[in-house]
Amino acid sequence: MSNRPEVTLAATAHEPAVTLPAIGQGTWFMGEGYATHEEEVSALKEGLDHGLTLIDTAEMYAEGQAERVVGDALKGRRDEAFVTSKVYPWNAGRDTAMKACEDSLQRLGTDYLDLYLLHWPGGIPIDETLEAFERLRDAGKIRRFGVSNFDVEDMRALIDRPGGEACAANEVLYHLGSRGIEYSLTPWQRAHDIPVIAYCPLAQGGRLRRDMLDHPDLVATAAELDLTPAQLLLAWTIRPVEGQHNILAVPKAAQRQHVRDNAAALNATLGDDILARLNSIFPTAVAKERLDMV
Ligand SMILES: NC(=O)c1ccc[n+]([C@@H]2O[C@H](COP(=O)([O-])OP(=O)(O)OC[C@H]3O[C@@H](n4cnc5c(N)ncnc54)[C@H](OP(=O)(O)O)[C@@H]3O)[C@@H](O)[C@H]2O)c1
Repeated sequence: MSNRPEVTLAATAHEPAVTLPAIGQGTWFMGEGYATHEEEVSALKEGLDHGLTLIDTAEMYAEGQAERVVGDALKGRRDEAFVTSKVYPWNAGRDTAMKACEDSLQRLGTDYLDLYLLHWPGGIPIDETLEAFERLRDAGKIRRFGVSNFDVEDMRALIDRPGGEACAANEVLYHLGSRGIEYSLTPWQRAHDIPVIAYCPLAQGGRLRRDMLDHPDLVATAAELDLTPAQLLLAWTIRPVEGQHNILAVPKAAQRQHVRDNAAALNATLGDDILARLNSIFPTAVAKERLDMV
């Protein structure tokens, strides 16, 4: 049995529990020409080879082109992956969600999604979106549904709605330099056994916060542990809290060496002394903060 950190999505009335490696793969900015199609496809395949099974995409990313990249990476190996896509809030209506999902499936070259997320809270009543998710699930198009960019009050309201308690995950921005969700959202999700999917775990390679990958103390700490700064950030993001692994990180990497480094971060363990040191450099939230998002 592997000692690599894993996160379990709870069983639902329709699906058994599923356990996933705590690091997956993001795809934002794929399909936009920053790397070639072949490089991006081969990076995602490399990730699957190394057990980074959750692939996170969205109809939004490159207006569907990122889903096509994922589709090419999945050819002949769909069953190895746990495919997550997201619906635009304005497409999350009773009928529009059916069409949006069909379009995503077509671009991905698959007939089902493992997880379908509402990309962020929008104007369509949540009951309508829940009904659409239920119809998609009954039609076998999605296995589970979840949400993204929901703060704790949104989550509380969601699980009170009919069907809302089946929400499998909430995907939110989380990295060592942005810890606002630790004040109330992550404790609430832990208590309700709803995993967090952490996006931008590398602060977009330092673009969201310039010192994230080159802060001297972070660099020194990573070196001490024989890790790269990015690996340290990932190991920190997926660390157990109160003995529980409830956070899964989805770094995006188009470079295969980055993918291999990210996979190797699953083997890193951070002791209490290291966690305390990181806390002193990048402190946790001491009051409720507005949900960080990009
Ligand atoms: N739900 C939402 O609203 C939402 C919002 C934002 C993002 N997301 C999801 O979360 C994923 C991750 O977020 P993100 O892509 O914004 O940012 P990120 O994963 O924090 O950072 C990606 C950047 O880090 C670099 N990188 C990856 N691995 C590295 C390593 N080992 N060492 C050094 N640099 C490394 C990548 O470079 P290369 O590509 O050149 O390898 C890329 O420039 C997205 O791709 C998307 O799937 C969701």
